[in-house]
Amino acid sequence: MDHLGQRWADLGIPTTPLEAAPHLSDALGGPRVFFKRDDLTGVGLGGNKLRKLEYLLGDALSRGADTVITTAAAQSNFLRITAAACRRLGLTPVFFVRAKANEELTGNALCYRLTGAEVHVVSTADPYSESTIHAMKEYAGDLERRGRTPYLIHLGTFSGPLATLGYVDGTRELIAQARSAQVVFDHAFVAVGSGGTMAGMLLAFADAQMPCTVTGVSVCEPARRLTDMICDFTERAAELIDIKVRVPRHSVHVIDSFIGAGHGIPSSESLEAVKLVARTEGIFLDPIYTGKAMAALIAGVRNGEIRRGANVLFMHTGGAPNLFRHAEAFRNMLDRSEIDGNYRG
Ligand SMILES: Cc1ncc(COP(=O)(O)O)c(C=O)c1O
Repeated sequence: MDHLGQRWADLGIPTTPLEAAPHLSDALGGPRVFFKRDDLTGVGLGGNKLRKLEYLLGDALSRGADTVITTAAAQSNFLRITAAACRRLGLTPVFFVRAKANEELTGNALCYRLTGAEVHVVSTADPYSESTIHAMKEYAGDLERRGRTPYLIHLGTFSGPLATLGYVDGTRELIAQARSAQVVFDHAFVAVGSGGTMAGMLLAFADAQMPCTVTGVSVCEPARRLTDMICDFTERAAELIDIKVRVPRHSVHVIDSFIGAGHGIPSSESLEAVKLVARTEGIFLDPIYTGKAMAALIAGVRNGEIRRGANVLFMHTGGAPNLFRHAEAFRNMLDRSEIDGNYRG
């Protein structure tokens, strides 16, 4: 691993398990499914964003920053983890949050509010809104005039290449685990928001000459836009760590058919996927990211794109704290008897 020297902060991420999921494999009727448990990365209840933050916050510290300014949706896993990681490293988190005025204090929002992160509400729903980036920069200017040193993060644009390096590391770890278990993956599935996780996976697989087909399951943006972003991130991340290999555009396979009614809204397929994985493996997904990615994996098995003998990797990117925010959606799908139990008073 190349940790870019001083531009990397150790957030104590353990080697996350690579686990076989035999009961889920049986329920699906064949393919061997494995989970890379990046929901267990640690700080802030864990999740994929921690690997990215080792690079981003490392860069912030190397520039003498004392404050981190970023933006995401109100129930963002990224904000929860960033808030916790900032506090770990002695940085002040400042968030420009896409929220409704009456956003509930639950799930991820409860977590980052507990850290005392400074929250500014923005009214747009667009993660790439120029006006939000402008507001963040203006606020950074204000802080500088007051003698502070802010560092800006925007995962979908200027922070994407550096963040991608976190998943080059994560995937190299996975490749080493697969080799020692003598497993060769035919397919991998990952939820795609900003695309950095998928970009890192593609780059590390290409660098290791592993011909695994990675399917990125968009939770928000059209596939074409994400494909452009991921190609750009892989190229610029490769330059940062001097990897010679390039990821060809045709291997960036993003699908946008599992978004459902929109970002942040559970779909019936994602709720079913979360339920199936909990009941077969005792692993908790979430209905916004990993549930949608798992729904795509299940559909791939059912429509025959994934053959029975295949080895399939599922990148578990975290998100389970957001289950609590969506309790109502599950209430509507679970049988009454399952909720009330068999109590006879
Ligand atoms: C649980 C979870 N999975 C996947 C993603 C998507 O990761 P990326 O932004 O690297 O595409 C996110 C991003 O917010 C997430 O919170």
